[in-house]
Amino acid sequence: MCGIVGYTGQQQAAPILLDGLGRLEYRGYDSAGLAIRDGGALAQVVKSTGKLRSLIEKTDEGRTLPGTCGIGHTRWATHGEPSQTNAHPHVSGNCTGSGSGKVESEVVGVHNGIIENYMELKAKLTRHGYQFYSETDTEVVIKLVDYYYNKYKLGPVDAINRTLVRVRGSYALALMFRDYPGEIYAARKDAPLILGAGSDFSCLASDVPAILNYTRSVYYIGNLEIAKLLPGELHFFDLNGDEITLEPTKITWDAKAAEKNGYEHFMIKEIHEQPEAVRNTLGSLISGGKIDLSESGLTDEVLADIDFVRFTACGSAWHVGMTGQYVLEEMAAIETRVELASEYRYRRVLPRGHELLIVISQSGETADSLAALRKAKSMGVRTLAIVNVVGSTIAHEADHVLYTHAGPEIAVATTKAYSAQLIAVYALAVQLAYVQGKIDGQAYGNYLEELSALPDKITRILEEKERIQWFAAKFASAKDIFFVGRGLDYSISLEGSLKAKEISYVHSEAYAAGELKHGTISLIEDNTLVIGVLTQSAIFEKTVSNMAECKARGAYLMALTSYGNYSVEDSADFTVYIPKSDPCFMASLAVVPLQLFGYYSGVARGLDVDKPRNLAKSVTVE
Ligand code: F6R
Repeated sequence: MCGIVGYTGQQQAAPILLDGLGRLEYRGYDSAGLAIRDGGALAQVVKSTGKLRSLIEKTDEGRTLPGTCGIGHTRWATHGEPSQTNAHPHVSGNCTGSGSGKVESEVVGVHNGIIENYMELKAKLTRHGYQFYSETDTEVVIKLVDYYYNKYKLGPVDAINRTLVRVRGSYALALMFRDYPGEIYAARKDAPLILGAGSDFSCLASDVPAILNYTRSVYYIGNLEIAKLLPGELHFFDLNGDEITLEPTKITWDAKAAEKNGYEHFMIKEIHEQPEAVRNTLGSLISGGKIDLSESGLTDEVLADIDFVRFTACGSAWHVGMTGQYVLEEMAAIETRVELASEYRYRRVLPRGHELLIVISQSGETADSLAALRKAKSMGVRTLAIVNVVGSTIAHEADHVLYTHAGPEIAVATTKAYSAQLIAVYALAVQLAYVQGKIDGQAYGNYLEELSALPDKITRILEEKERIQWFAAKFASAKDIFFVGRGLDYSISLEGSLKAKEISYVHSEAYAAGELKHGTISLIEDNTLVIGVLTQSAIFEKTVSNMAECKARGAYLMALTSYGNYSVEDSADFTVYIPKSDPCFMASLAVVPLQLFGYYSGVARGLDVDKPRNLAKSVTVE
């Protein structure tokens, strides 16, 4: 979703902000803009639609916008079409044309998120003589700040606080006030925003990669807190306007981790980083030959008490929950349910007495997942977050946190974070099973051995990527693809199908193989690609039969199974073999060829695989 950056210091702001926006491109956007001011001068606003490149060209790489203080934005349209007028920054005054140029306005700002009651606020402001030039909720919030600023004349912090009290929704805001040159004000609620400072500058952004070249010391402001940025100084305020102290967090990952390092795309780089992501996540959960979750507060006593697990998440993270459901029930014999966060949050939920609700999220900011977490907490349910981004809202609010150690994930489609999430789920399942006496010490040791063998097995699969590349190119113009599997293989199929459609824009569906006959099989035509996932030996034959039914109706069959299951070649036209592991852990291996298939299909179709159309990396609106 939208990306925000801000800088105030001694250097020219525009090139720094453009660089920062470039590092946030992965979040998804359809227009971009900057507001820069030079000392006491008025802010100059420049906006453009489409790729950031056009803003870079329009401003001659920032050279036409002199000034050492500014804010920037990439917009992912929610209210109002992607146009120059609707692009940010927005201003409190009246604006003609597309809103670019020198602005007289009192307040200039950028916003990420959604203001839910913007219609009501707009009506109020209209009654007070404000006029609106755009269709955005952002213009409303900027004008509301201006209204309070002029009404009470108590300065920016007071005006922002009064606005925060009136506004409903989620937001990260960065604002400049005409009377306060060299200063930027920021506030957030349920949308990501980080701040950093050096000896002569301070800066803000929606995510760490945007500021990592300037500082590793990052501040996370809480909901309804305000930050004031001056060159070399950061001040924080609570909702009463009282100054508060925040401690910085040190970012340990290398700035290079957020660069392509010779790979053509972030996605393929991140696919290759999976052995490391899995190894690092395992390393954080296993020590001295034992799983140790105590740092998260999930002690053996806590685990012994749990008799019901509910996963909730969105998209790929929900697929991890789906795999988790099979694994927990199989390994730990604990009743488990998995729910889409967007459904869970609005339905009547009957919590169980000894329930553990697990929210899985790479970003830790997904609006629906956050809402689901809050709902569970409000019902007194114990919550665990499996999160990749340190300091994110979901990590902050859950009772327990297990961090995945995937490093920064830049490509919009998740790969390495998904793999790291699986590991956290496996470790939890093994420990629950052991603590609750469902497995003995021997089985426990075997599981740990299988887990530690996963990174090398993933590496081995990656070594054979050329075969998938060839196959993906052959089917790049496919109209439809069906992914089928039973049980845990069904959860893998869901992820394979999502990867295919989001990256290559080919329509695809995942089906529990036994369901095909109940309708979907009518869609099979000559040469329709059906990809069968067959990692579970107990149901191998059943899925093979379902695939054969498709073949009899003209389908082209690809099978994905482990070495040794060569009989599949009697039915399949093309087979991909992966190493064997414990059946519970096979998703970690089987997903890799499917990620590669999605990636290479998109590349073969000449698509922007790192930033598929209409998608955003961090979905901070519902
Ligand atoms: C798909 C993908 C999305 C995310 C989903 C949840 O490749 O990346 O489906 O998994 O938007 O995001 P997080 O994990 O940040 O909550």
